[in-house]
Parts: sequence; structure tokens; C-alpha cells
Amino acid sequence: MRCLVTGAAGFIGSHLTERLIADGHEVIGVDAFIDYYPRALKEANLRALLRSPRFQLIEADLSALDLSPLVAEAEWIFHQAAQAGVRGSWGKSFTVYMARNIAATQRLLEAAVRAPRLRRFVYASSSSVYGDTPALPVTEDTLPQPVSPYGVTKLAAEHLCTLYWRSYRVPTVSLRYFTVYGPRHRPDMAFHCFGKALLEGQPLAIHGDGRQTRDFTYVSDIVEANICAATAEDVEGRAFNIAGGSRVSLRDVIALLEELSGRKAVLDYREAAPGDARHTYADISLARRLLGYMPAVSLREGLERELAYLETLYGRSAPALADRLDDAREADYALAHAMGTQPGVVLPLAAIDASAVAPGGGQ
Ligand SMILES: NC(=O)c1ccc[n+]([C@@H]2O[C@H](COP(=O)([O-])OP(=O)(O)OC[C@H]3O[C@@H](n4cnc5c(N)ncnc54)[C@H](O)[C@@H]3O)[C@@H](O)[C@H]2O)c1
Repeated sequence: MRCLVTGAAGFIGSHLTERLIADGHEVIGVDAFIDYYPRALKEANLRALLRSPRFQLIEADLSALDLSPLVAEAEWIFHQAAQAGVRGSWGKSFTVYMARNIAATQRLLEAAVRAPRLRRFVYASSSSVYGDTPALPVTEDTLPQPVSPYGVTKLAAEHLCTLYWRSYRVPTVSLRYFTVYGPRHRPDMAFHCFGKALLEGQPLAIHGDGRQTRDFTYVSDIVEANICAATAEDVEGRAFNIAGGSRVSLRDVIALLEELSGRKAVLDYREAAPGDARHTYADISLARRLLGYMPAVSLREGLERELAYLETLYGRSAPALADRLDDAREADYALAHAMGTQPGVVLPLAAIDASAVAPGGGQ
């Protein structure tokens, strides 16, 4: 298949693109390298991909790029690009969330109306669309009531997907991801922050009492769900919960991280952040039935893999920062070569440090 993956340099987009390439597909990835977190991490995400002749990267913003020629060739579109992060979506930055999450999606859908080869358009939605629902686990019939502006933008884009299916037969499917984790985890997300703090012997900042629960999903299960959504029949216009099937409190996660890392955490409790849902827990029976989706990676196994990744970034055996910078520069040249442009500016050392990133509250 000819695939278009937006947000291909990001956490989920890069894993998905690797899977598509491994399965023998051709992929054009689009990413604007937005500065929500360091470019060097995204370049590292792309390192293996750039060696494949079946992968092409276009560094561009969906808000400005001429999408028609790209979409005209695509058989599968996986729309992962977004401005992520719940806590940052309040205030003035909401305009950025509107542009990157709603307007950019509308541009892509509009281009998809005139895409003769398109078989499926999979949209990365979020559990944030639900907000604080009293009845758990949530099914897709639960009334979405987001508690963050981010959730509002993800829901608006989901409605656009349904609308373009109903009005123009753009074959959309929305996947409501529940807290995704794993190697390449975004540095604003809880597990990444916790793992980094543990490895560096720093206190772990907990927003709220730590008893809030999440349905965590390992990244390869999310990738599998995207493939299922692209291939399942008669599912256009629908939204599906995609979760890992294990609902755990933050305190339990920290205890597991302590066990796996062999280190004791120092907990720094802070006020609960506005926009964070208290609990998330998904009923995934619809995805199981109609998409054939089954999560396969347990929390323990997934956390082990994430810790191993974080060890390469922050652990004692991590390469010296200077080496990491060299790696980033190498990737930057490879990237520039792939795009036929000049290498860009590599971020200063400090930028690779996740502490330079404000905790975004996930999603
Ligand atoms: N990570 C999670 O737990 C989670 C949960 C629910 C939903 N999601 C959704 O999954 C998708 C991927 O999330 P992620 O965690 O991989 O985030 P990410 O920030 O790592 O990846 C998103 C990528 O999109 C790119 N991008 C953003 N706006 C763009 C634009 N206008 N044009 C081109 N590129 C643009 C960014 O540069 C980034 O590389 C997002 O749509 C997010 O809302 C993620």
C-alpha cells in the first residue's frame, strides 16, 4: 500500500511508520518538527526509517503544505500529527491547538475528498474526548464531555472525520487512544518523567494524590490497532476505544517502576492539574469485535521496555551527552539528505534534556 503518515517523526507516528515499512508498504511521512519537545528526539526516532528506500520524509506543516498531490497517491492515510498535551491547552495557546488539531485535520480531509485511490483514513483521537465520566468503563456510546481544551479539539476533529464520511464518503475511522507509553515516549508524559526522575535520583512530581487511574496502552498495541482499522471492513465513520486493558493507579505504576528499576522513588505531591481526568478506563469490546483488536503487551513488559529506552537517554550507561549530540547531528544530515535540503540546526545539549519540557499531562 502507499501510505501517508502525518506526525511520522513523533512517538506513535515513528513506531507506526516502522511497522508499515516492515510489512512492505511505501510510506510518505509528513512532520513539521513542532517545538513541543526537542527536535533531536524526533530525529532519533527517524534514524532507522531513513535507511529505507520505501520511506520518504517531508518536513512541512499540514497547515501550509499543498496536500493534494500527496493525498492523491495515498491508499492509507494515518493522521497522527497533532499538538499533544492536556495542560498546555488552556489560555492563549488554545489557538495553536485549534490550528494543529482542528484546522489541519480539516485541510487533510478536504484534500482526501479528491483522492481516487484512498481506501482508509485513520485518525488518532484520544480518550480525552470523554472527560470525567461517572460510569466506567466507557463505551463508545458514552456522551463525550472533555474536561480540557485539548480534548475539545480532538473531539472536534473526530466530528470532522465523521462528517466527511457522511457527506463525501472519505473512509475515516477514529481511534480513541488511551494513555500510550513505550520507547520514544514523549518527554512530557508521566512514565517518561517518572522513569527519568528515578534514573537520576530526583523526586517524582505527582499531580493530585496519585490514586487517579489510567488505562495504559503499549505503543505496539496502538500500532496494531491502526493496521486493524485500515483493513477492517464496514467500519467507516466510526470511533473505537483503543486501550491496553489494564487500569492502574499512578501509585501502583510507581511501585512497579521501583521494582523494575531497583530504585526507591521520592514522591513530590503537587496540586491536581486542571484538565486531567480523574480516571480513564475503556471498554474495548467494540474494537475487539469489529476491528479484531486485542492488546498483547502487559504493563510490566511494556514498562520494562520503556525503562530500557530511558536508560539509554538518562541512565549511567547512557552515552556521554557529546556522543548523543553527534548522533543527533548524524541523523540531521541523513534527514537533510533524504529531503534534498541543507542540514538544520542541531539543538544545544540542554534541549535533549526532558527537564526543558513542561509536563504536559499526557494524551
Ligand atoms: N501519546 C498518547 O498517550 C496519546 C493519547 C491519545 C491520543 N494521542 C494522539 O496520538 C497522536 C500522536 O501523539 P504522540 O504522543 O505520538 O505525539 P508527538 O508529539 O510525539 O507526535 C506528533 C507529531 O506531529 C507533528 N505535528 C504536529 N502538528 C503538525 C502539523 N500541523 N503539521 C505537521 N506535523 C505536525 C509533531 O512535530 C510531532 O512529531 C496525536 O494525534 C495525539 O493527539 C496520543
